[in-house]
Order: sequence, then C-alpha cells, then structure tokens
Amino acid sequence: MEKRNVLLIGGGGREHAIARSLSRSPLLGKLFITPGNPGTADLGENSDLDTDEFDDVVDFCETHHIDLVVVGPEQPLVEGITDYLHDYGINVFGPSKGAAMLEGSKSYAKSIMHKYAIPTAGSEVFDRHEISKLETYLQEQGQFPIVIKVDGLAAGKGVFICENIARAREYIDLIMNDVNLSAAAPTIVVEEFMQGEEVSVFAISDGTTARYLMHAQDHKRIGDGDTGLNTGGMGAYAPAPVLTDAMKQDVMERIIQPTIDAMAAEGTPYTGILYAGLMITGEGPKVVEYNCRFGDPEAQVILPALNSDLLELMITTVNGKLEYQSLDLAPDYFCTVVMASAGYPGTYTSGLPVRGLEHVPEGVQVFHSGTQRNKEGELLTRGGRVLSVVGRGSTLQQAIDAAYEGVERIEFEGAYYRKDIGAKGLRYFNS
Ligand code: AMP
Ligand code: GLY
Repeated sequence: MEKRNVLLIGGGGREHAIARSLSRSPLLGKLFITPGNPGTADLGENSDLDTDEFDDVVDFCETHHIDLVVVGPEQPLVEGITDYLHDYGINVFGPSKGAAMLEGSKSYAKSIMHKYAIPTAGSEVFDRHEISKLETYLQEQGQFPIVIKVDGLAAGKGVFICENIARAREYIDLIMNDVNLSAAAPTIVVEEFMQGEEVSVFAISDGTTARYLMHAQDHKRIGDGDTGLNTGGMGAYAPAPVLTDAMKQDVMERIIQPTIDAMAAEGTPYTGILYAGLMITGEGPKVVEYNCRFGDPEAQVILPALNSDLLELMITTVNGKLEYQSLDLAPDYFCTVVMASAGYPGTYTSGLPVRGLEHVPEGVQVFHSGTQRNKEGELLTRGGRVLSVVGRGSTLQQAIDAAYEGVERIEFEGAYYRKDIGAKGLRYFNS
C-alpha cells in the first residue's frame, strides 16, 4: 500500500481531532502539523512553517514529499491557498478561493442562495457608500428585529441583531468606524430575522457528489443558558436531535446538494467540507451561513463518529471519486465540553499548569487547543479555549456524563466551562 505524507494546517482542537483521525489510517506516511499544539505533537511532527507565505508552503511540500495538504481554518482557504498549491501540482483538501467565498463573503453566499432558490432569510445588500439608501430602507421596515452583517470574515463579530431602528443605526456607525469591522465591510448585508433553533450540518463534497457527515449543535455564548458574550464555541454535541432523520434527508436534498450543484454551475465547484449553519424555522430549515471547513469544537464530536478512514475519504474526495465511497458512521452520541481560561472571551492569563489528563476515564478523549509545554515538558495553558473533552455514549445523556467526568479530572487555575452542554438536546428525549 502506498503511504501518503500529509501536511495539516492549523493548531486548535479541531486540528488535534483531524490529526487523531488521520493518524489511525494505514495509508498515512508522515504527518506534519503547522503550527500544531502539544496534542498533535504526539501524533506527528509539529512545524513552525509560516502558512501566510504560500511559497514557503510549496517549498515545505517539496522538501517533505507531501502528498496531501489538509487545511483546518478558513483564513488560508479564503485567501486562496488551495489554488496556489494546485498550480504546483500539490493536492489540497479544502475548497478553492472562489468556492470558499461561500464563507468569505456573506453577500456572495446570499446571492448564490437567492439565485438557486436555496432556503434562507430574505436579504438586501448595500455598498458602504450607500448608507443613506440603507437608512431609507430601515425606515421602511415594518418588522424588527432585523439582522445586519458585515460582508467579510470577522471572527464571529460581524453579525448584529437589531431590536429597533435606533439599534440598527448604532451598529451601522460601529461598523463604519471600527477599523477591524470596517475592513470586513465593503458591503453590508441586511437580513430578515429568523426564529428557531440552530443546528450545523456537515457534508463532504468532491464538487459533484455530497455525502452527509454529521450534524451538531454548538454553544457559542460564554454563559450557561446561552447568556453573555459570544465565543469561538464552548461545547458541542452530535447528533443533535432537533434535526430528525426526515429533516436531515430534506436538508441534503434542498440545501446541501443544491449548493454543490450551484457552485458547479457557477464554474467554482465546491470540494471539501461544507458546513451549513441552519435555523429550524416554522417554514423548515433555512441557511444562516455557510462555512468552508470543519467547526471548532464541532470537529471534536464529528470525527470520533467517523468509522471510515478519514485519509482515504479525503484522497477520494480530492480525486473526485466520492460517488464510489460509502461512509461508515458510529450510531453513538458525542459531547464535547470546552475548558477555558478564566476571563475568556475577554483577557486571561496564560502559562498556568494543567494537571490530571492522565486521570481522564478510558473512552474519554481530550483535544488540546490553547496549551503549550515548557522546557521541562510540563503542560501549561496558552490561550482562551484550552482543551476540549469528548464523551461518547449510546445515549446523549451518557455522552454528556462521560464528558463531564473527564472535565472533573482536569485542573488548571480558574478553569471555566459551561455546565449545560447538550442540555438543549436532552429536552427531545424527556418530553
Ligand atoms: P453568522 O456569523 O452569520 O452565523 O451569524 C452568527 C449568529 O447570528 C448565528 O449563529 C445566529 O445565532 C445569528 N443570526 C445570524 N443571522 C440570523 C438571522 N437571519 N436570524 C436570526 N439569527 C441570525
Ligand atoms: N464553532 C463555530 C465555528 O467553528 O465556526
């Protein structure tokens, strides 16, 4: 069997989960991760390659005989790393720059959805020089809340739910004057507010065929009961019972496959992971947003459910042969609880000793996000989200209990975690 060398880009819990699945493949030769983290260091070789410099990535791939580059985060995809490496004959798992615009530009994503009748909220797009037109539009709105979004990547900070017109004006001012937001806002998208429960559907596509991978629910807010500030994600569970099997089928037929078909028709076929953030509204599932990669922490509950060989699946996808590959998914439930530094998502201290990983019960998986090792090899904190602890069970309750049993064995000063991960899902079994 021909072994393949892989370069994995990223350094969070998501990439630790990807690295663990890749490392189980009999097809894997050498695995390099850049920048990686202390978790991925146990599975392959971490590198400090600067992935902003695509030329350096090409050199690295040539030197280390890399057969496949796997891109974890959205930024390099939106900036076109896939196209750049392709020009040098390097295989990349992840969409092209044109296809990654589904995440990189909200106005582009909305235009595709409207053009191809993919269910989503109604929307209007305004150029940043058309603020007076936007003001007139707001005055004509009978219905609040409305949602205002900046067009480009804004690390989760570019969406504003406006209860009334005064709020909308305030947010528009903020967008126009904040340097970070302003850069992401060549255009502003104004969208209808959708009421409902959110769920994320993950599919894999080779540009033509799409296969369902899993659906999960994230917990974006810092506080229990979905209160407080937005974060990168404080926990997730899968599969989320809010989406029934019948709805899942419907999402594949009316949202995922039409999106893949639309991108092919536009001349920018979509290859890689398509992550559709959905709202389950009274009129059925509608798209809130697309992402062009695995979620973090959703990957930590999706990948452990995949019995199929991830590396083989990625190679098949890159070769456009997904049609011939079936997926084997475990029937279990998975829950991940993120342990964060005190103060996150605001300011926090790093460099605090992390203890107890060796006491985590068997079957509970721990993925590193913001950790580091000092010269003595001790594990320390190094970021907001420090670890994600994953439990598995034949019921959602068992998966939740297993994750929290793991969390209780791990210690670092001020460790913070939500106590209600998965609770939303349990309601479907208790009623
Ligand atoms: P996005 O970055 O587009 O996913 O938006 C971030 C969050 O804002 C989503 O996860 C939703 O909770 C919320 N959101 C975005 N768009 C809408 C909408 N049209 N209606 C209701 N909530 C929304
Ligand atoms: N957990 C949300 C994301 O990865 O975008």
